[in-house]
Amino acid sequence: MHLAQRIRSVAPSATLAVSAAAKAMKARGETVFDLSIGQPDFTTPAVINQAAVAAIESGAASFYTPAAGLPALKAAIAAHIHAQTGVTYEPKQLVVTTGAKMALYSLFQVLLDPGDEVLIPIPGWVSYVEQVRLAGGVPRPVQSLAHFKVTVDDLEANRTAKTRAVIINSPSNPTGVVYTKAELTLIGNWALRHDILVVADDIYRDLLFNGTTYHSIIEIDPQITQNTVLISGASKSYAMTGWRIGYAAGPAKLIGAMSTLLGHATGNPTAVAQYAAIEAFGNPAVDATVESMRQAFEDRLNTVYPLVQQVPGFELPEKPQGAFYLFPNVRRAAVLTHHKTVDDFIAALLAETGVAMVPGRAFGMPDHARLSYAAAKPVLVEALGRIQAFVAQN
Ligand SMILES: Cc1ncc(COP(=O)(O)O)c(C=O)c1O
Repeated sequence: MHLAQRIRSVAPSATLAVSAAAKAMKARGETVFDLSIGQPDFTTPAVINQAAVAAIESGAASFYTPAAGLPALKAAIAAHIHAQTGVTYEPKQLVVTTGAKMALYSLFQVLLDPGDEVLIPIPGWVSYVEQVRLAGGVPRPVQSLAHFKVTVDDLEANRTAKTRAVIINSPSNPTGVVYTKAELTLIGNWALRHDILVVADDIYRDLLFNGTTYHSIIEIDPQITQNTVLISGASKSYAMTGWRIGYAAGPAKLIGAMSTLLGHATGNPTAVAQYAAIEAFGNPAVDATVESMRQAFEDRLNTVYPLVQQVPGFELPEKPQGAFYLFPNVRRAAVLTHHKTVDDFIAALLAETGVAMVPGRAFGMPDHARLSYAAAKPVLVEALGRIQAFVAQN
């Protein structure tokens, strides 16, 4: 069976591969301590579920909506962004998508001509590279040399005449680092100077810990705002990964083009999920639940970070500030346990202890591993105990 070139060059998601191995073990009745998870382990807040039920029962959820999203949802999202950043987006500057993933996918589709380059800070989320490729673009990984954050010097060293965009993901998946206002100002001005679009993936912005101050690059300067597409969604903040609601906000020309593309691709994001999302973004009563989930993640981070530091051969000098991931260098642990590669170490750890982590290779740094703390505290403590014992006994 013939497959198009564009898909033959795409790597399947490595995060999904680990989850599949962990799931297979669970199906065989084995206990798995799953630290590979990329989503909140909480269920969606009840008021959001109730809004969805009401939309089904009233019949409202039966019908197509505008491809770019329900006007009421766009209004709720715009008000939410304004409350968080002070930035105002008009309805034509906002498109609701089937998850933030589709916001990014459709953005690259309308932005990139063959050969256009996108600067992707490494370590970075798995899908950026493949989405850029699927749009005919060329992903240019930019290694962050210090603190897992790229600087203007790192970006400048990778800039060419074909550089079209730079992705900034803060808080970051897989590192949990958060860019400061000063860092974002330098990057925003550099991008403006060179007519490079900033893609600000702020999807984890509600998950900030231990008093971390947050700034989105869109709130720094109106000119930078106009040169930025904000990507975010309901998945991580409201424990709504399965509902598939994301959005993009930015220049009307780009957003309009994305809406046209989506009109021929997905059409509208599922109507019932949009009605649920109106409640998520628009009902202030949801904020208390969001805060209680944030506190739970913070407590887990504060529990698990010292335990990670105690594992022989795991190195993570700085405590992450956001999201729900830790990204230690585990190269020495692989050596201590006589494994040639970190991938082998991670596979053996899963097979022998039931602890699942994601190989750092998936994020462009093969000596690292990603541990998610979107799991109950006893699971995390047990998992870290098992990792420690596994490294110690070998
Ligand atoms: C950095 C980052 N951006 C975007 C997404 C996509 O989120 P969703 O499509 O669920 O809204 C994810 C999900 O894992 C992510 O980690």
